[in-house]
Amino acid sequence: MAQKIIPTQREIVMRDDAFIVTKTDRTGKITYANPIFIEFSGFTESELLGKQHNIVRHPDMPRTIFNMLWNTVKAGEEFFGYVKNLSKDGSFYWVHATVTPSYADNNGDGSEIIGFFSVRRKPNKDKLTIIQDFYRDILTAEKRQDRSDAISAGTEVLNKTLQSSGKSYHEFILTL
Ligand SMILES: Cc1cc2nc3c(=O)[nH]c(=O)nc-3n(C[C@H](O)[C@H](O)[C@H](O)COP(=O)(O)O)c2cc1C
Repeated sequence: MAQKIIPTQREIVMRDDAFIVTKTDRTGKITYANPIFIEFSGFTESELLGKQHNIVRHPDMPRTIFNMLWNTVKAGEEFFGYVKNLSKDGSFYWVHATVTPSYADNNGDGSEIIGFFSVRRKPNKDKLTIIQDFYRDILTAEKRQDRSDAISAGTEVLNKTLQSSGKSYHEFILTL
């Protein structure tokens, strides 16, 4: 059960040379956390291992983005995106993340997904300004709906933005 953390306006900025790395099982439970994730999240290793990755979920993050993350990685593809995370003390930190599936080595047949792997680095500040506006629009659309309709309302806003840019989601993210 996630503890109730009150978000504050205090930002922790990643160092240029830092990488935050975690691994999860197939259900998103943390199985590995590198020291930098432990530092930024503010939790101890034993508080993190075995917990769902939403332990660092920030309420400013649209559900639509996580829905897309899961659809992408469960389909065996790599996901790129910007994520605002919540630390144990209520601070937040932004990351530019990639999430990929990990496969079992079934005697050469690597088709079975056994978990997921994520690496994050410091996001570019100018790109973050665009992402913050983008997320705000998606979140506003989500909040206008009941919880059950939030993701489809958010996805509609996301798709409209992509349509007007003429790009796929990943092209949009990678060419911001
Ligand atoms: C490898 C991996 C890394 C993830 N990293 C994060 C993360 O850093 N922050 C986050 O909020 N969610 C992360 N997620 C997504 C969470 O599992 C979850 O879907 C998300 O926090 C939304 O929470 P909710 O499902 O309770 O709405 C990650 C998922 C995977 C598979």
